[in-house]
Amino acid sequence: MSERFELLVRGGEVVTPDGIALADIGVRGGRIAAIGSLGGSGAADVLEAKGLTVLPGAIDTQVHFREPGNEHKEDLETGARAAVLGGITAVFEMPNTDPPTTTAAALADKLKRAKGRMWCDHAFYVGASPENADKLGDLEGLPGCCGVKVFMGSSTGSLLVPDDETLRAVLAHGKRRVSVHSEDETRLRERKAIAEKSGDVRDHPNWRDAETAVRATTRLLQAARTFGRKVHVLHTTTAEEIAFLAKNRDLATVEVTPQHLTLEAPECYERLGTLAQMNPPIREAGHRVALWQGIANGTVDVVGSDHAPHTRDEKAKRYPASPSGMPGVQTLVPILLDHVAAGRLSLARMVDLTSTTAARIWGLANKGALAVGRDADLTIVDRKARRTITNRWIASRCGWTPFDGMTVTGWPKATVIRGAIVMRDDEVRGKPIGRPLEFAETVG
Ligand code: DOR
Repeated sequence: MSERFELLVRGGEVVTPDGIALADIGVRGGRIAAIGSLGGSGAADVLEAKGLTVLPGAIDTQVHFREPGNEHKEDLETGARAAVLGGITAVFEMPNTDPPTTTAAALADKLKRAKGRMWCDHAFYVGASPENADKLGDLEGLPGCCGVKVFMGSSTGSLLVPDDETLRAVLAHGKRRVSVHSEDETRLRERKAIAEKSGDVRDHPNWRDAETAVRATTRLLQAARTFGRKVHVLHTTTAEEIAFLAKNRDLATVEVTPQHLTLEAPECYERLGTLAQMNPPIREAGHRVALWQGIANGTVDVVGSDHAPHTRDEKAKRYPASPSGMPGVQTLVPILLDHVAAGRLSLARMVDLTSTTAARIWGLANKGALAVGRDADLTIVDRKARRTITNRWIASRCGWTPFDGMTVTGWPKATVIRGAIVMRDDEVRGKPIGRPLEFAETVG
């Protein structure tokens, strides 16, 4: 029987929960209507995917788009443009803006700003603070909110939950999984002189050492256990945390970033200087190896980019006055595809880490898999393309990437969001059709 679709994605290698096979995908009403041999069907629009691979839309669960307050680094439009150029179909945006997203009014303001300007689907984190701890149960349930974010250690911006008493007050309110930047504030303060004295970015992983992260993650899990509250440890960086979190899978999910999987100290600091400065820091080889073991043995649940743009001028300040963070939303998919091509993880595992598990953890019922009835969010890639990542390609307002000059195997060729082609061959198309994400009860 021939059917009529709004969009037919023809002849791609399609990655479904049942395996990888050549198939067509028919889209109707923004949803996947059929997967299979749809040769006789008509369609308003056809996307030829022969030789390409069709993945469920990649969700970047950690980006900083800087609006309001720091639009000279990025805004919601430029950040989302970078996202779809990189094959990302949805983002969770962080609350350390200016003002920070700590109230219902600040969340409503972000959603209003996003309307008609976002190229991808999106949700916003609410930041925890001593002042709003008892209101977080209400705030986390507001439409367009992906949950609560806690900074246990100071990073960019003013958000901070520095002590156990406040941390417990935060975890006592609400029920969704809480996402945490896990560095111990007391130890950061005690050791800051290391960075100030040397003025050398190579000391970044010495100031913010492994123990700083391990202490915070240990304290976090103690508090989480008291309340039976689930947590998500963002940008995990140490071998010790990977081993510890592997034993706490009932409560904690684990994120790592492409930067920590790809770059290594001290080489990255020698080559990139403060461009490689982020919190928590890029560490030595042993930690990087442990992150890969965490990917292989299932301890790591999610890869998020921690897209954190700063201008080159800001980055050129003398360390440690230079701000921490690197852009990454546009390079997440190509960097991971390159790791797939090098045999460091399978394509199916990449799909888990960039889409399926995030959709499950956060209760995004319509996302996360290529299956009939789900949103037609597609990250269409050429697994064999050899391309060089360059600063010129970067759409983020900051205009640079730590991966400038790196040749990768694997490239995003098209981004489809609810059936609309928003990126094709390195060009953004159509209108910014991104919508707030809808969350079911969290199940992860
Ligand atoms: O390096 C970082 N930069 N880590 C963070 O936690 C925040 C981020 C930013 O917003 O710049």
